[in-house]
Order: sequence, then structure tokens, then C-alpha cells
Amino acid sequence: MKVPFLDLNAHHQPIREQLDAAIRDVMDKSAFAGGPFVAAFEREFARYCGCHEAVGTGSGTDALWLALLALDIGPGDEVVTVPSTFMATAEAISYCQARPQFVDIDEQTYTMDPGLLERAITPRTRAIIPVHLFGQCADMEAILAVADRHGIPVIEDACQAHGALYKGKKAGTLGTAGCFSFYPGKNLGAMGEAGAVTTNDKELAEKIRILRDHGQHEKYSHSRIGWNARMDGIQGAVLNVKLKQLDGGNNRRRAHGLQYDKLLGDVPEIITPFEAPHNRHVYHIYAVRVPERDEVLKTLAAKGIHCGIHYPIPVHLQEAYGFLGYGDGSFPVAERCAQEFLSLPMFPELTREQVLAVATELKSCVSAGKTHCICVKQ
Ligand SMILES: Cc1ncc(COP(=O)(O)O)c(C=O)c1O
Repeated sequence: MKVPFLDLNAHHQPIREQLDAAIRDVMDKSAFAGGPFVAAFEREFARYCGCHEAVGTGSGTDALWLALLALDIGPGDEVVTVPSTFMATAEAISYCQARPQFVDIDEQTYTMDPGLLERAITPRTRAIIPVHLFGQCADMEAILAVADRHGIPVIEDACQAHGALYKGKKAGTLGTAGCFSFYPGKNLGAMGEAGAVTTNDKELAEKIRILRDHGQHEKYSHSRIGWNARMDGIQGAVLNVKLKQLDGGNNRRRAHGLQYDKLLGDVPEIITPFEAPHNRHVYHIYAVRVPERDEVLKTLAAKGIHCGIHYPIPVHLQEAYGFLGYGDGSFPVAERCAQEFLSLPMFPELTREQVLAVATELKSCVSAGKTHCICVKQ
């Protein structure tokens, strides 16, 4: 059986007419850059998250960067984050001319290990960015406790965690600001690039609104040097349609996650995801850890089962960050996970038969190479 990693067509097909109508509406009103469709989405997304403000941006990277800029982070500052993330988290810090300072991840949740946070903080630390990796929130209470002791704001990288819950509260509403990506493959995906910052801080939201629009507080009056980081009108309209599908999609992802857990949970060579008791994971990515990961990936692909790797090289070992001076062994958990992570097909429209086929093939693959096992199940 062929199983794609992701099938966006299957997701769009049932709502195709609504999407076509939404795009037509934007064309009829020529509201392409920012405008009423973006404003409507901002209102709906803030309501969905349960916060006062959502500010639409051109991408998740823009959202992170503008949130940092609005907090006046700049040259000489340090921002603490994790090495197990997409490059954009660190890039946003670098684009403020600040320095990323990494903290290793927890071996079970794959999010920032709060026990290691305190020692990464220096007098130059100006923000902390935990990443809600794969759709599960970091341990925000523990992180906020450290941050509060030092008076440092926490910006959540919620780019993979639309609708995820931490102790009953939505991702993106737990710290000073939350940053979302609506890249097409996300749990809430646009039809192009888009992002948003969520916050309860009206002043911060206003600063971000100004920064995303060339620093202008009114047309052609520029109080700051900003950038063009607005959301497209078409993306706002599309996202407004797709937001209504988000909870249903997340529920189906969770059902697939449960089925994978049941089928793979007792295989000694495979480590399945751990959902912390206070969390509601939304499985943007369902990542297992397997020995001989690259071989397993190739074998599965040859059988028509397409998996991914998120991410093969942790950020501190990327060539671009060579100047930070980290090396092998700097963040052992992140490095071990990067060698073992295998992202299985995960999207709402997967069928039970497809999940079964993936699990069956994966099991036969890992048991064939059993003697080389390097994973230790917890
Ligand atoms: C954890 C994380 N942070 C930031 C981003 C950047 O978002 P975008 O691609 O919308 O710029 C992504 C997107 O993949 C992400 O997964």
C-alpha cells in the first residue's frame, strides 16, 4: 500500500467550494495585502486561542523575528532556545543581531529541559524561546518560573502546535507572545506563506503591527524602521475557512497517534512519542525513534511509505552556526534524537488501513535489523 507523508489535496477537496469562494471574494474586493480578510482572521484566531490579540505576518519566521524586535532585542543580547527545532527559530534571533544560546531538550517530550535552563541564563539574556516541537507544549510552568525569577520574557515557538493544550490553555497564550506558522503543511495551513503572533499585551501587538508594515503608524509616517512582513489577503481568507477544520483535524491526528501507539508501543526497538499528562499533543509530526534510521527510511520509501526526518542536523551543528563554537556532544539528547527521529505519515485524512500498513512495515523493518539496535527504551 502506498502512503504519502502528507496529502494536502485530500484535506482541501471537501472544502474546495468554500476555499474557491473565499479566494474569489478577495479578488472581487482587491484586498490582497493585509486588509479586511486578514483582520477577520486575526479576530477569529485570537478568539480560537483565547487571547486578546493576533497579528498576521508573512510567515512564522517573520512572527518570531518581529516578536523579538518588538521586545527591543538587538546587538549584544542573548536569546535562549533549543537546538532541536527548525532553523527559523535561531535565524529570527540572529536577524535581530542577537546570539542564540541553546539548552538541551528533555529526552521524553523533546522540548526544552527546564532543569537545564537556569545555567544558560547570563546577564545578557533578554528572552527565552521554548519550541512546542511536533505539536506538544514545552513545560511552560517550569520555564516561566525560571524566566520570572530573572524578569525575562518568554516567546513560545508554537509554529507546530496550533490548538495544542498545556494544562487546559492553548499554545501561544502561555508566555509574553506566541508565534505561529501557517506554512501549507501545518495543522492550520495557508495556501502559501503566512504566520501570526498571539499575545495578551495590546502594546506589544501594536508595535508588531507597525513593524510588519514598514514601521508606519499611519500611511507614509514611519516611526520605526520596519519591514514588509504583512499577511496576504488571500491567506487570511483561506485561513478563516480552514480554522473551522482545525479541531476536527487535530482530533483525527490524535486518533491516528493513538493507533500508532497501540501498534508500535510494545516493539522494543521503537520509541513512540510520550504525551506529558498535562498536555494535549496535536501531532503535527508523529516522530518515533528507531535504530538505523536512514536505512529504515529508505526501506519504507521503497515500499511506497513516505516518512520524513525532523530534523537530521540539530541547529547548533549547522554549518551556518559554526561561529558559535559548539561541537559534537554539546547537546547530547538533541544529537541522539536527530540520529534516531523518523516522522511517520500523519495527516487528518489518513485511513486506519494506512496507519496499519505503516506500522506493519516499520515493525518488519526494525526487527530485520534488530542486532544493530542503538535505542534504549525508557
Ligand atoms: C518550529 C518552527 N519554527 C519556525 C518555523 C518557521 O515558520 P515559516 O516556515 O512559516 O517561516 C517553522 C516552520 O516550519 C517551525 O516548524
